Amino acid sequence: KGLLGKVWDDQMSSKMLGTRLKKVVMNYQAMNKYGVDVSVPSSLSNRPKLTGPELLCQLKDKVEVVTLTSDLQPFSSLPWASQLPSKQLTSDLGPFRTCAVVSSAGSLHNSGLGKEIDSHDAVLRFNTAPTSGYEKDVGSKTTIRLINSQVMASDEHRFLSSSLYSTGVLVAWDPAPFSANLTQWYNKTDYPIFTQYQRYRKLHPLQPFYILHPHFEWQIWQRIQDNMAEPIQKNPPSSGFQGTVLMMSLCEAVHVYEFLPSRRKTELCHYYQRFFDAACTLGAYHPLLYEKNLVKRMNRGSERDIYTHGRVTLPGMSALNC
Ligand code: C5P
Repeated sequence: KGLLGKVWDDQMSSKMLGTRLKKVVMNYQAMNKYGVDVSVPSSLSNRPKLTGPELLCQLKDKVEVVTLTSDLQPFSSLPWASQLPSKQLTSDLGPFRTCAVVSSAGSLHNSGLGKEIDSHDAVLRFNTAPTSGYEKDVGSKTTIRLINSQVMASDEHRFLSSSLYSTGVLVAWDPAPFSANLTQWYNKTDYPIFTQYQRYRKLHPLQPFYILHPHFEWQIWQRIQDNMAEPIQKNPPSSGFQGTVLMMSLCEAVHVYEFLPSRRKTELCHYYQRFFDAACTLGAYHPLLYEKNLVKRMNRGSERDIYTHGRVTLPGMSALNC
């Protein structure tokens, strides 16, 4: 038998996880820290399963990349409003022809994918993922870096002073309460995204820096839940999937690397750290398992591309005829 059975199966379920991870996922499913209040139908398993093209059109129709601008309440009445961009990320940047999304997975280690990744018109990286010293495997071009508010706030990552963050366009997100408006979120962010944003902008005023509207993360969450046969974690999707949808909005074609693990699949969490945990690939806090099911269903590339390159091919929203 060929590659099938070796690459990601789009019906992955929390039932297939080990005992420890299963428990963690169940805890998150019960916790509901962000007050997700959607009624998930009790008969999830006999809903019609959408095809790849149908899923892509649903994503295009129901998810919109919106970033905070200086004219939005409550920011427009705050003294630092002018630090926010005046225009949307999607009107300032792109469109690009080809884009690469580089997951931070340990399976990028020894992949030799660097040249291929750098050949794209734009490259998206995540959080604290470095290129320096890892160029052979992950390339050296960084057009956009998507970071979460936890990275921005932690002393360990030296967000304000490290040169890691100084290349490309920065885009940040924070887990917001599910039905909060911007004022409610502003008063109840998960991590201090706004104080850190203001500090960073003062130190690096010329670097473009956007903040995602929290509707974006929850619109994506809803697409995942609506297309899964079981309840998913009531937490925002991972940076990896948010970044994939972001690039689908800026590019004609998107290659995502090692989000669906290749033959190099490993419990090594990140290509840049000696830390092992299956949760990095399968998810615990994030509904990562289900994000991967959805990406597998939308993939237009081959099983072999996944197996050898960890590569998924997705169309940009502009290339879709819905
Ligand atoms: O850990 P971090 O969030 O910075 O990694 C960036 C993204 O790469 C994750 O949000 C996840 O989508 C993806 N990832 C993965 N498998 C791993 C590590 C990261 O799919 N082992």
